[in-house]
Amino acid sequence: MIVGVGIDVVDIARFESTLERTPALRERLFTLEERHLGVASLAARFAAKEALAKSLGAPVGLHWTDARVVTNDDGRPTLEIGGTVLARANDLGVDSFHVSLSHDAGVASAVVIAEG
Ligand SMILES: CC(C)(COP(=O)(O)OP(=O)(O)OC[C@H]1O[C@@H](n2cnc3c(N)ncnc32)[C@H](O)[C@@H]1OP(=O)(O)O)[C@@H](O)C(=O)NCCC(=O)NCCS
Repeated sequence: MIVGVGIDVVDIARFESTLERTPALRERLFTLEERHLGVASLAARFAAKEALAKSLGAPVGLHWTDARVVTNDDGRPTLEIGGTVLARANDLGVDSFHVSLSHDAGVASAVVIAEG
Protein backbone atom coordinates (compact mmCIF):
# COMPACT_ATOMS: atom_id res chain seq x y z
CA MET A 1 0.00 0.00 0.00
CA ILE A 2 1.29 3.49 -0.82
CA VAL A 3 1.51 5.50 2.41
CA GLY A 4 2.99 8.71 0.95
CA VAL A 5 4.55 10.38 -2.06
CA GLY A 6 6.94 13.32 -2.29
CA ILE A 7 8.49 15.38 -5.07
CA ASP A 8 11.07 18.18 -5.13
CA VAL A 9 12.99 20.27 -7.65
CA VAL A 10 16.28 22.15 -7.09
CA ASP A 11 17.96 24.88 -9.14
CA ILE A 12 21.47 23.39 -9.52
CA ALA A 13 23.38 26.69 -9.93
CA ARG A 14 21.64 28.22 -6.92
CA PHE A 15 22.36 25.08 -4.89
CA GLU A 16 26.03 25.25 -5.90
CA SER A 17 26.25 28.90 -4.79
CA THR A 18 24.63 28.01 -1.47
CA LEU A 19 27.16 25.22 -0.89
CA GLU A 20 30.05 27.57 -1.76
CA ARG A 21 28.71 30.31 0.52
CA THR A 22 28.10 27.90 3.43
CA PRO A 23 30.58 25.00 3.23
CA ALA A 24 29.32 23.47 6.50
CA LEU A 25 26.05 22.70 4.74
CA ARG A 26 27.71 19.88 2.81
CA GLU A 27 28.29 18.01 6.10
CA ARG A 28 24.88 18.88 7.49
CA LEU A 29 23.00 17.67 4.40
CA PHE A 30 25.06 14.75 3.14
CA THR A 31 26.60 11.56 4.50
CA LEU A 32 30.32 10.85 4.03
CA GLU A 33 29.55 8.59 1.06
CA GLU A 34 27.55 11.32 -0.71
CA ARG A 35 29.79 14.34 -0.16
CA HIS A 36 32.29 13.68 -2.94
CA LEU A 37 29.65 13.68 -5.72
CA GLY A 38 29.34 16.38 -8.37
CA VAL A 39 26.97 19.26 -7.81
CA ALA A 40 24.15 17.98 -10.06
CA SER A 41 24.14 14.64 -8.22
CA LEU A 42 24.29 16.41 -4.86
CA ALA A 43 21.36 18.64 -5.86
CA ALA A 44 19.39 15.54 -6.91
CA ARG A 45 20.16 13.89 -3.57
CA PHE A 46 19.07 17.01 -1.72
CA ALA A 47 15.83 16.88 -3.75
CA ALA A 48 15.47 13.19 -2.81
CA LYS A 49 15.75 14.06 0.89
CA GLU A 50 13.15 16.82 0.55
CA ALA A 51 10.88 14.44 -1.38
CA LEU A 52 11.46 11.76 1.26
CA ALA A 53 10.47 14.21 4.00
CA LYS A 54 7.31 15.12 2.07
CA SER A 55 6.43 11.45 1.64
CA LEU A 56 6.54 11.19 5.45
CA GLY A 57 4.45 14.34 6.02
CA ALA A 58 7.50 16.56 6.59
CA PRO A 59 7.48 16.48 10.40
CA VAL A 60 9.98 18.67 12.24
CA GLY A 61 13.11 16.98 13.56
CA LEU A 62 14.24 14.79 10.66
CA HIS A 63 18.03 14.81 10.24
CA TRP A 64 19.36 15.11 6.71
CA THR A 65 22.11 12.57 7.32
CA ASP A 66 19.59 9.99 8.53
CA ALA A 67 18.88 9.30 4.85
CA ARG A 68 21.21 8.64 1.98
CA VAL A 69 20.86 7.69 -1.64
CA VAL A 70 22.82 4.56 -2.56
CA THR A 71 23.51 3.80 -6.20
CA ASN A 72 23.43 0.14 -7.20
CA ASP A 73 25.92 -1.39 -9.65
CA ASP A 74 23.44 -0.83 -12.49
CA GLY A 75 23.10 2.88 -11.58
CA ARG A 76 19.71 2.58 -9.92
CA PRO A 77 19.26 4.74 -6.79
CA THR A 78 17.78 3.42 -3.56
CA LEU A 79 17.24 5.09 -0.19
CA GLU A 80 18.86 3.94 3.04
CA ILE A 81 17.43 5.41 6.22
CA GLY A 82 18.18 5.39 9.93
CA GLY A 83 17.63 7.40 13.12
CA THR A 84 14.93 10.08 12.93
CA VAL A 85 13.77 9.07 9.45
CA LEU A 86 13.49 5.39 10.34
CA ALA A 87 11.53 6.27 13.49
CA ARG A 88 9.04 8.35 11.49
CA ALA A 89 8.73 5.63 8.84
CA ASN A 90 8.04 3.06 11.57
CA ASP A 91 5.38 5.33 13.12
CA LEU A 92 3.58 5.50 9.76
CA GLY A 93 4.00 1.80 8.96
CA VAL A 94 6.32 2.50 6.03
CA ASP A 95 8.67 -0.38 5.31
CA SER A 96 10.11 0.52 1.90
CA PHE A 97 10.82 3.51 -0.30
CA HIS A 98 11.13 3.95 -4.05
CA VAL A 99 13.18 6.86 -5.37
CA SER A 100 13.88 8.27 -8.81
CA LEU A 101 16.30 11.13 -9.61
CA SER A 102 16.82 13.36 -12.63
CA HIS A 103 19.09 16.30 -13.49
CA ASP A 104 18.99 18.24 -16.73
CA ALA A 105 18.59 21.79 -18.03
CA GLY A 106 19.88 23.28 -14.76
CA VAL A 107 17.33 21.53 -12.58
CA ALA A 108 17.61 18.46 -10.36
CA SER A 109 14.50 16.62 -9.25
CA ALA A 110 13.41 13.60 -7.26
CA VAL A 111 10.28 11.60 -6.56
CA VAL A 112 9.88 9.32 -3.54
CA ILE A 113 7.12 6.80 -2.86
CA ALA A 114 6.72 5.43 0.65
CA GLU A 115 5.18 1.97 0.84
CA GLY A 116 3.90 0.03 3.84
C1 LIG B 1 7.64 21.16 4.03
C2 LIG B 1 8.84 21.30 3.09
C3 LIG B 1 9.15 19.92 2.52
C4 LIG B 1 8.49 22.26 1.98
O1 LIG B 1 9.55 22.27 1.05
P1 LIG B 1 9.99 23.61 0.30
O2 LIG B 1 11.23 23.31 -0.46
O3 LIG B 1 10.01 24.73 1.28
O4 LIG B 1 8.83 23.92 -0.68
P2 LIG B 1 8.41 23.22 -2.05
O5 LIG B 1 8.06 24.29 -2.99
O6 LIG B 1 9.39 22.17 -2.49
O7 LIG B 1 7.11 22.42 -1.65
C5 LIG B 1 5.95 23.11 -1.28
C6 LIG B 1 4.87 22.07 -1.17
O8 LIG B 1 5.20 21.14 -0.13
C7 LIG B 1 3.99 20.53 0.26
N1 LIG B 1 3.99 20.36 1.68
C8 LIG B 1 3.93 21.32 2.65
N2 LIG B 1 3.91 20.76 3.86
C9 LIG B 1 3.95 19.43 3.67
C10 LIG B 1 3.92 18.31 4.55
N3 LIG B 1 3.87 18.47 5.90
N4 LIG B 1 3.96 17.08 4.02
C11 LIG B 1 4.03 16.89 2.71
N5 LIG B 1 4.04 17.91 1.81
C12 LIG B 1 3.99 19.16 2.30
C13 LIG B 1 2.85 21.41 -0.17
O9 LIG B 1 2.14 20.76 -1.21
C14 LIG B 1 3.57 22.64 -0.72
O10 LIG B 1 2.91 23.23 -1.78
P3 LIG B 1 1.81 24.39 -1.49
O11 LIG B 1 2.51 25.41 -0.62
O12 LIG B 1 1.48 24.92 -2.84
O13 LIG B 1 0.69 23.72 -0.80
C15 LIG B 1 10.12 21.84 3.81
O14 LIG B 1 9.85 23.07 4.39
C16 LIG B 1 10.62 20.88 4.83
O15 LIG B 1 10.12 20.79 5.95
N6 LIG B 1 11.61 20.12 4.44
C17 LIG B 1 12.01 18.96 5.14
C18 LIG B 1 13.40 19.07 5.65
C19 LIG B 1 13.77 17.77 6.26
O16 LIG B 1 13.07 17.17 7.05
N7 LIG B 1 14.95 17.28 5.87
C20 LIG B 1 15.47 16.05 6.29
C21 LIG B 1 14.97 14.94 5.44
S1 LIG B 1 16.01 13.55 5.41
